[in-house]
Amino acid sequence: MYKFIVANWKMNGSKVFIENYFNSFQKQHTNKVIFCPPFPYLSLVKNSLTVTNFMLGAQDCHIQEYGAFTGNTSATMLKDMGCEYVILGHSERRQYHQETNELVYQKSQAALKANITPIICVGESLTDRQSKIHLRIVTQQLQQSLPDLIDKCIIAYEPVWAIGTGLSATLEDINEMHQMVADLTYQKAPILYGGSVTEDNAAEILSQPNVNGVLVGGASLKPEVFNKICQAR
Ligand code: PGA
Repeated sequence: MYKFIVANWKMNGSKVFIENYFNSFQKQHTNKVIFCPPFPYLSLVKNSLTVTNFMLGAQDCHIQEYGAFTGNTSATMLKDMGCEYVILGHSERRQYHQETNELVYQKSQAALKANITPIICVGESLTDRQSKIHLRIVTQQLQQSLPDLIDKCIIAYEPVWAIGTGLSATLEDINEMHQMVADLTYQKAPILYGGSVTEDNAAEILSQPNVNGVLVGGASLKPEVFNKICQAR
C-alpha cells in the first residue's frame, strides 16, 4: 500500500524556484506525492507534474463557493485549477488567522462539496503536552472539525511544538496519538504525521502501524531531500 507524502510549501517559492525544483525532482515514485504550493503557483506546479502519481493540493479554502470575499479562494476554484486536495486547519492558520474548529469544519464541508479531499490538521501545543492534556485537545479538535464523511478525509497529526523546530515527536508520541485518532475515526481516514519530518526520520515514522503518510514543510523545499522522503516506505 502506498503512503501519502504531502509537500506543504507554505508561503515559499517563486517562478524560478519551481522551474529549478522540477528539473531536479525525480519523476517517478510509488508513494502518492501531493504538492501544495501557494495559490499563484498552482498552475505552474500542475504543469510541471507530468506523471500521474503526483497530485496538486492547496493550503486553504473559503467556506463559500463564490461572492464578495476579497482575497479569498473557494474550493470550487481550486478544483477548477486541478487541485484534488486542500490542507485545512493548519496550526499556522489557527494561530495567525484565528481559525476555529467550527471554521475548519465548514471549510471541510466546502471542500467535500467541491469534490476535493480535505487534509485536516490537528495537534496540541507544548503547554497542552506538558499539562498532559494533549489527547483531550486533539479529541476535541477532531470532534469539532471533522465533517460527517470521515472516509472522504485525510487527517494530519501535527504537534505544534514539532513544526519547523527540528524537534520531531518521538515514535512513542506518534504511536499513542495515531492509535487514538484511528480509534476515534473507526480507521476510516488515512492519518499523516507532520512536524520536522526529514530524510533521516521519514522511513522510521512511515513504518509505524497507524501512520499512512507524512506532511512535510521545510524539507519539501529541497528537491534532493524531498526525493528521498518520497522514496521512504
Ligand atoms: P515542518 O512543517 O516539516 O517544517 O516542521 C510541517 C508543517 O507545518 O506542515
